[in-house]
Amino acid sequence: MRAYPYDLDRARKKLQSIKRNIVVWSSTSAAGAGASGCTGEGRGSMPGMDNAFVKFSGVQKTYDGETLVVKNLNLDIARGEFLTMLGPSGSGKTTTLMMLAGFEAPTHGSLLLDGHSIDNVPPHKRDIGMVFQNYALFPHMTVEENLAFPLKVRKLGKLEIEARIKRVLDVVRLGAYGKRRPGQLSGGQQQRVALARALIFDPKLVLMDEPLGALDKQLREQMQLEIKHIHEDLGVTVVYVTHDQSEALTMSDRIAVFNEGAIQQLAAPAELYERPRNAFVAQFIGENNRLHGKVVAMNGATCKVEIAGAANVQALAINVEAGRPTVLSLRPERVRLNPMPGSLPNVFSAQIAEVIYLGDHVRIRASVCGQDDFVIKLPNSEGVAQVEPGAAIAIGWKTEDCRALDAQ
Ligand SMILES: Nc1ncnc2c1ncn2[C@@H]1O[C@H](COP(=O)(O)OP(=O)(O)O)[C@@H](O)[C@H]1O
Ligand SMILES: [Mg+2]
Repeated sequence: MRAYPYDLDRARKKLQSIKRNIVVWSSTSAAGAGASGCTGEGRGSMPGMDNAFVKFSGVQKTYDGETLVVKNLNLDIARGEFLTMLGPSGSGKTTTLMMLAGFEAPTHGSLLLDGHSIDNVPPHKRDIGMVFQNYALFPHMTVEENLAFPLKVRKLGKLEIEARIKRVLDVVRLGAYGKRRPGQLSGGQQQRVALARALIFDPKLVLMDEPLGALDKQLREQMQLEIKHIHEDLGVTVVYVTHDQSEALTMSDRIAVFNEGAIQQLAAPAELYERPRNAFVAQFIGENNRLHGKVVAMNGATCKVEIAGAANVQALAINVEAGRPTVLSLRPERVRLNPMPGSLPNVFSAQIAEVIYLGDHVRIRASVCGQDDFVIKLPNSEGVAQVEPGAAIAIGWKTEDCRALDAQ
């Protein structure tokens, strides 16, 4: 596994918030204090992850006895981590989450939570909080009664229940809404109550399956930040599912990109965007120009790729072999206009088809190397105004900005 980028500043901040949290949040819960106390360690010692908080080992799942919808999943999640499973619909995210929650049994493999096998532990004994897309609140109960429910089930005392409700309503900023019923709240507020209900019993782990899917864009973006901040403040471990890449990039410590029941890449957001390991990830995360070609020569970490018998491109050799087809992946913002002669290894002519003004940046569609949907993104600064549809200009890019991937 790749080394986890260790951000000392962030870890320090987190540790401070955890210390606060032990006093304020987990006064009675050993699970909460334990989970919080070790967060910093979990983060620092991620790579080997002997102390993984959640561990999927060789997990497989089939519903019909034929098709594996989850294939040999090995995944370690650190204590205090915010891990997102991101992938298209049907890629196995919900199934994976349901196996962790205990609502689906793996066909093969095993699961550890906090060092203990949970293979034979029923869902309600796993100490896991869950938030779904539809808020699943009891409509006939007030917000406070909804929140008290998981605590009454756990037989907590009245005073303790009241204190926890007050605390958790403050966390989700709904202090004034305790007496309302769900029907008297907006969608965003209902989802915050659902979040509060998942947090109130100090779970070891919180699972969220597309929890913001029903909200409009503005509210969704606001809630993304709120959930991220709550995670940072409480230090609870979160496993989050979404098909929305910008949501995953905004919120996560690490993202597991799913496709066809398998993790394609597991990495921090910047790593996924900058260094996609295969064509699926390059295509799924962010925008990306794809040039189809054939590897004609390998040269250590780089290779030479021939495009449609015409141009040769120097690229990073990621998962290619000499003589085999490849897809070159190049981010639109890495393309340079009118490069100085000799400054870049890859220089081509671009026939400008369309220039779209987007305020902070300009988007250009051009024909490059025989491909007419090539996209260039330029920050809106001097010089951009000179690019006009119909013109032919020189463009170029660096070898390290162009990745030769599998020809998917
Ligand atoms: N209860 C079920 N019975 C049969 N097939 C299912 C069931 N749940 C999910 N599947 C199938 O398993 C695959 C993965 O589904 P799911 O885990 O829901 O994916 P995702 O959450 O990524 O959209 C899909 O092909 C889906 O049709
Ligand atoms: Mg799903």
